[in-house]
Amino acid sequence: MNGPAVEVQDLVKRYPKSPGNAVDGLSFAVERGEVFGLLGPNGAGKTTTVGVLTTRVLPTGGRARVVGLDVVSDAVAVRSRLAVVPQRVNLDRSLSVRNNLIFHAAYHGVGRAERRRRADALLDRMGLADKPDALIDTLSGGQSQRLMIARGLMHRPEVLFLDEPSTGLDPQARLFVHDQVRELEAEGVTVVLTTHDMDEAAKLSDRVGIVDHGTLLALDTPAGLIRSLPGRGTVEVTVVPGEATADDLVARLSGLAGVERVEQLAATPAGPPGGLPPGMPPWPGAGGTGGIATPPAPAGSATDTLRLRLYVDADPATLLGPVVALLGACEAQVSDVSLGEPSLEDVFISLTGRDLR
Ligand SMILES: Nc1ncnc2c1ncn2[C@@H]1O[C@H](COP(=O)(O)OP(=O)(O)OP(=O)(O)O)[C@@H](O)[C@H]1O
Ligand SMILES: [Mg+2]
Repeated sequence: MNGPAVEVQDLVKRYPKSPGNAVDGLSFAVERGEVFGLLGPNGAGKTTTVGVLTTRVLPTGGRARVVGLDVVSDAVAVRSRLAVVPQRVNLDRSLSVRNNLIFHAAYHGVGRAERRRRADALLDRMGLADKPDALIDTLSGGQSQRLMIARGLMHRPEVLFLDEPSTGLDPQARLFVHDQVRELEAEGVTVVLTTHDMDEAAKLSDRVGIVDHGTLLALDTPAGLIRSLPGRGTVEVTVVPGEATADDLVARLSGLAGVERVEQLAATPAGPPGGLPPGMPPWPGAGGTGGIATPPAPAGSATDTLRLRLYVDADPATLLGPVVALLGACEAQVSDVSLGEPSLEDVFISLTGRDLR
């Protein structure tokens, strides 16, 4: 079969009695064999989109196709071609580990001998070979996750949807899931994964779509998204500003040749005298970008520590001298400087802002 593995066109979902659209005109396509990351803050509409694509949620408008089949009019056929590993554990607690796999395959019409063979092979592959008879309630979060992946693979799907596959997993379990995603990709399975984890998205995905408020804000390869950010690197400085205000420093640093944008970051938690009282969390965001309302910088005395991030369009090291000289001229005391490459997290924050959902 030709054509994309997943196609979403002007998709809209409004839940009953909800004041707004959970998915609000989303369009994208996922090529066959691709690992596609759907990235977005809480409530962005990722799970709802996966719900529509996996026939669990009825769309309000627009169209969605999986392997060329319409998810509404061809729902039964679509279900036989895809698998979903949901955000929340939905294993059958009345069945053993192995029977969760066997029953799922039976539902999908896999023959008796074949489903036993596949179950044993997948238990082995997912590191669960010693647990065939265990009850679901005795599994750890990571074991449940691996079992749900195994269950999804029992009927050999062409497209696998993973909704936050590694949230809540320890680093070993997360790496295991990542290895599995890469193996599936090598086997030609299309993988659509949702995540908040930028490193995970950057590491695993061929392309990433960033969604917020049910709409697509950007779609590209991780490297392409990072290139789209203004600047080629960052310089982060921590200063005690002296007489100058934060706005002053931001304005003066913004005027330096090679500096594209200056962002004020949250204050350091263990600030100097005059900083935030102990135990009080720093303001979650200050001076964000992207035209989204952000809270003001914390009011404070001139001795508060300030953290500023400069996005620069040159090698960040060449800006070090001018930045320190300018801050010195403003009688601001520099306590820390670090240089960095922009990351997918910077893209995400630049597009979706810093406000909590
Ligand atoms: N069954 C439902 N009924 C009503 N509203 C819902 C339902 N499920 C989700 N919503 C709302 O739809 C919006 C999108 O939710 P969704 O779960 O799709 O977001 P998400 O991107 O998966 O978020 P998270 O990262 O927290 O998992 C949210 O505002 C949410 O409150
Ligand atoms: Mg979700």
